[in-house]
Amino acid sequence: MSRSTAPQPFLRLTELSLSFGAYTALDKLSLDIREGEFFSLLGPSGCGKTTTLRLIAGFETPDRGEITLGGEDITTLPPNLRDTNTVFQSYALFPHMTVAENIAYPLRMRGTPKADIASRVADAIEKVNLGKFADRLPHQMSGGQRQRAALARAIVGRPKILLLDEPLGALDLKLREQMQHVLVDLQKSLGITFIYVTHDQGEALSMSDRIAVMNGGLIQQIGSPEEIYYQPRNAFVADFIGKSNRIPVKASDDHTLSFADVRIPRRKARGTNAVAIRYEALHVSPDRNYDVTFQGTVVRKMFLGSVVEVIVEVSGQTLTSHVPSRKASALRTGETVPVGVMLEDVVYFDD
Ligand SMILES: Nc1ncnc2c1ncn2[C@@H]1O[C@H](COP(=O)(O)OP(=O)(O)OP(=O)(O)O)[C@@H](O)[C@H]1O
Ligand SMILES: [Mg+2]
Repeated sequence: MSRSTAPQPFLRLTELSLSFGAYTALDKLSLDIREGEFFSLLGPSGCGKTTTLRLIAGFETPDRGEITLGGEDITTLPPNLRDTNTVFQSYALFPHMTVAENIAYPLRMRGTPKADIASRVADAIEKVNLGKFADRLPHQMSGGQRQRAALARAIVGRPKILLLDEPLGALDLKLREQMQHVLVDLQKSLGITFIYVTHDQGEALSMSDRIAVMNGGLIQQIGSPEEIYYQPRNAFVADFIGKSNRIPVKASDDHTLSFADVRIPRRKARGTNAVAIRYEALHVSPDRNYDVTFQGTVVRKMFLGSVVEVIVEVSGQTLTSHVPSRKASALRTGETVPVGVMLEDVVYFDD
């Protein structure tokens, strides 16, 4: 018999609860974060992401529960005594200091020797590719450059954990995508644990080692991006991540679920009353065999670029499919076409 070799917990949140007056912002939230991982807290506005980050940073104290770092209880330790640092959406650089002076600031405050400061600032500037901008003032740089300066300032003191609260929220889409690469590269080269807060699923899926999906102060699911995407644990996660058809189903007998006159083999003994099928997993006019095949009528097509969104009607139920654009040009509105699904792409829910 092999024993599980779970790694020693690094940052552990145990049953953290926090209320603001009558409002429960977090309800018994538990989470283990591993050393050196890129961990994201993902969820809609107001779900408690920033509150969780503030508890880890020490800006907030929980009503109940415990936070340990490397086994040491830090629940009530003041922020300046924790090995954490935070990057916010607003860059919060000092406007009258150059980039190099901004980055040197936390080291000067700590009384780091002058010679060390110079080399560590140069190193941090290098890490975020701001070499040419060391002597610029914040207002002389773009938003992306300012955010990189803020990142350099946050890592120069070599915290064990870097907390990032929607740091790319103010940037345009192209720049945000570039900065995602900068962040991932930086995290891997530093080996610092990153805890990243975002409501943007694309950002969380592309950067994270693991993600905690939150809603209403509760964790809905923790897993790798692939697990969250392909095996959503409940309807909330399935709806929040990617785009899915959520289809109410009835149990025809012990082995079969049905919607309209479509039959799907059942997976669980009982309790299953909805399934989800991702847009890209619903194959319209398929050119090979699928586990489940039925007829649908094309009611609408919308060109989205690389895919065409095709709405098909199946006995009064509308389903959405993303069809590769080149293939979709042959589909005509009003046409009846076969629709195919692989069982591995069907997610079964009790709710
Ligand atoms: N100091 C406070 N006083 C009262 N309510 C608060 C306070 N801080 C947060 N809340 C409430 O707690 C809930 C969680 O807030 P939090 O800032 O953690 O959300 P979030 O997930 O970061 O949302 P967003 O994506 O909009 O930043 C919200 O409903 C918020 O209004
Ligand atoms: Mg927030």
